[in-house]
Amino acid sequence: MKILKLNNISKDYNVSGGFLQPNKKLKALSNITLEIQKGETLAVVGESGCGKSTLARIITMIENPTQGEIFLHGQSISSLGMSKKNRTAIQIVFQDPYGSLNPRQKIGDILEEPLIINQIHLGKIEIEKKARSMLEKVGLLPEHYDRYPHMFSGGQRQRIAIARALMLNPEIVVLDEPVSALDLSIQSQILNLLADLQNQFQLTYLFISHDLSIVRHFADRVMVMYLGQIVEEGSIDQVFQNPKHPYTKALLSATPIADPSIKKERIRLTGEIPSPLNPPSGCSFHNRCWLAQDICKIEKPLLTKEDHRSSCHFPLSK
Ligand SMILES: Nc1ncnc2c1ncn2[C@@H]1O[C@H](COP(=O)(O)OP(=O)(O)O)[C@@H](O)[C@H]1O
Ligand SMILES: [Mg+2]
Repeated sequence: MKILKLNNISKDYNVSGGFLQPNKKLKALSNITLEIQKGETLAVVGESGCGKSTLARIITMIENPTQGEIFLHGQSISSLGMSKKNRTAIQIVFQDPYGSLNPRQKIGDILEEPLIINQIHLGKIEIEKKARSMLEKVGLLPEHYDRYPHMFSGGQRQRIAIARALMLNPEIVVLDEPVSALDLSIQSQILNLLADLQNQFQLTYLFISHDLSIVRHFADRVMVMYLGQIVEEGSIDQVFQNPKHPYTKALLSATPIADPSIKKERIRLTGEIPSPLNPPSGCSFHNRCWLAQDICKIEKPLLTKEDHRSSCHFPLSK
């Protein structure tokens, strides 16, 4: 069942051009169209600056898109008069477990704040009970309720951020690089917790990461972004075993995989990542692509409409 749909979402930022220069438009996202099915984990991957966090902020309504529409259960969430239920249905966990928790707030207050902001009418005692029980669900202790964030490790803080995100019983949780700031041993604990919580609460995840080896094990589908655009999307098997876009192939070739039966050539991308202030003509990837032909410099390739879709004039085949 389709739970979330993005229709042609774009986001421009106006950035100052500097002294006596006109302001410029930075295209952080261009024409993003995607669907997420209930209960699945869709990973979003791509190099730093490709627009992943911008997408996270737009889906969670922290920012408005410049263009396009978002539908939750088929209902536009940008429209006025959106119900309280829809507003709380999508929550987010950020990358930085140190910056995302207010150091002056007790854990209990951090967890209860979303309910108060969203005017969820529960009594003080019920709210506290819910917060203490949520602490247990994320592997902490009910007595941590009275402590402050500095008393916790990075992994524990991320558990607190996850508990806060779940306090409003969301249907979708956007995870923006939730383990990137953590030690390797802690990463797998948090990923296991996220998988358990997904089962327990039938959550749908948008999992943002730049680590393809994690994505391969954690997600059901993966979307690859480059300079604010989707270049490829498909199931984990489709994309990892049969990448269609040269950029995906290059990303995969740089990912260590434990399976010695998979032979791979190391592809070294040449050329700089272009600036989103001044994106290349035609296919945005053409200046780094070893397969580029003349048409790639002139004509922007369309994203296909298949289950395993890509945007390339010369898609790879097996
Ligand atoms: N508030 C903002 N103002 C101007 N530019 C921004 C803003 N937020 C993000 N950007 C730019 O948008 C692009 C995408 O950024 P971001 O979504 O943070 O990428 P990612 O999360 O993939 O690293 C980058 O070029 C970034 O510099
Ligand atoms: Mg980011």
